[in-house]
Amino acid sequence: MDGHPSLLGETRHPTTRRVRQIWAIGGGKGGVGKSLLSSSLAISLSRTGHKVLAVDLDLGGANLHTTLGVDLPRQTLNDYFSERVSQISACVSPTSIPNLEFISGAQDSVSIANVPEAQKARFMNAIREVDADYVIFDLGAGTASHTLDFFLASDINLVTLLPEPTSIENGYRFLKSAYFRRLWLNPRLHGARQWIEIAMDAKNNEGIRSPSDLFRAATRDNPDLAAVMKAEIERFRPKLILNQVRTHSDIEIGFSVKTVCKKYFGIDMDYLGYLDYDSAVWQAIRRKRPVMLEFPNSKLVTSIDRLVDYLLKKHADQRSSIL
Ligand SMILES: Nc1ncnc2c1ncn2[C@@H]1O[C@H](COP(=O)(O)OP(=O)(O)OP(=O)(O)O)[C@@H](O)[C@H]1O
Ligand SMILES: [Mg+2]
Repeated sequence: MDGHPSLLGETRHPTTRRVRQIWAIGGGKGGVGKSLLSSSLAISLSRTGHKVLAVDLDLGGANLHTTLGVDLPRQTLNDYFSERVSQISACVSPTSIPNLEFISGAQDSVSIANVPEAQKARFMNAIREVDADYVIFDLGAGTASHTLDFFLASDINLVTLLPEPTSIENGYRFLKSAYFRRLWLNPRLHGARQWIEIAMDAKNNEGIRSPSDLFRAATRDNPDLAAVMKAEIERFRPKLILNQVRTHSDIEIGFSVKTVCKKYFGIDMDYLGYLDYDSAVWQAIRRKRPVMLEFPNSKLVTSIDRLVDYLLKKHADQRSSIL
């Protein structure tokens, strides 16, 4: 497997590592259900007998602990990223759920405005070695480079959107940023960085607005580099989950997003399915209890269990190519 040593330090073969897979949940916008999905997937996965570590990577807005129904622990990622603790294991807290442990996100956004490259590499190397079968990353909103990097360094890239225009717009922005970041990080594409940089500036004068514009410009300039770019993008398979679905036409939005991603970004997105809007969610959050435990017979629990089953069966071998 060819890797990207620039992002994550030393490249090692993933099968030599303890953790089988990292699943990341992103989505660009705030309030689209990233934390709900992260905690629910983590709980469902832990019930299949796998050892799971849920990590709150919403640095500054950490609240995964609430959706998991645990108190805020003493040590958080803030301590790790600011090197107050040297081992990631010092930040791991137990939960009341068998097979499930948890790392809390940083609460103090000022000191963790952006995670330095060396710290990201140190963190990713450490996280691949933790005593868990699966790691779940709950990402923050927005397109900060550390958010994109943690997303891209994961094996399964889940994107959650609501069926409403603002969420869809932010979802596209998130995917576009992840796409450009992915190209930017590939050492074989250093020769195309001037084009990638132009494309990353949304108001550039070259008329490069979308990834397909970038691809066209790169092909004109250097067809060899364009071929590397194409191969890189073909390896990027984000997976869409539509959340808070209320009507049948909401469900269809997932298919439109998939079509648009293919047409404008060249990204083959898997539309995994949807979660209904369910009042059980806010009722559980108000009680500071995971919905998976508080409403075990809700449709949401069935949908989450099905999603986990599907990912375990169909995508067990998927690995980040940015290791
Ligand atoms: N399927 C659902 N049905 C009903 N309510 C939901 C559902 N999913 C999420 N919510 C509600 O939306 C709110 C936001 O969810 P959540 O905190 O998981 O989003 P988020 O993407 O993690 O937000 P942030 O970016 O701010 O961390 C929750 O308080 C919850 O009440
Ligand atoms: Mg959240």
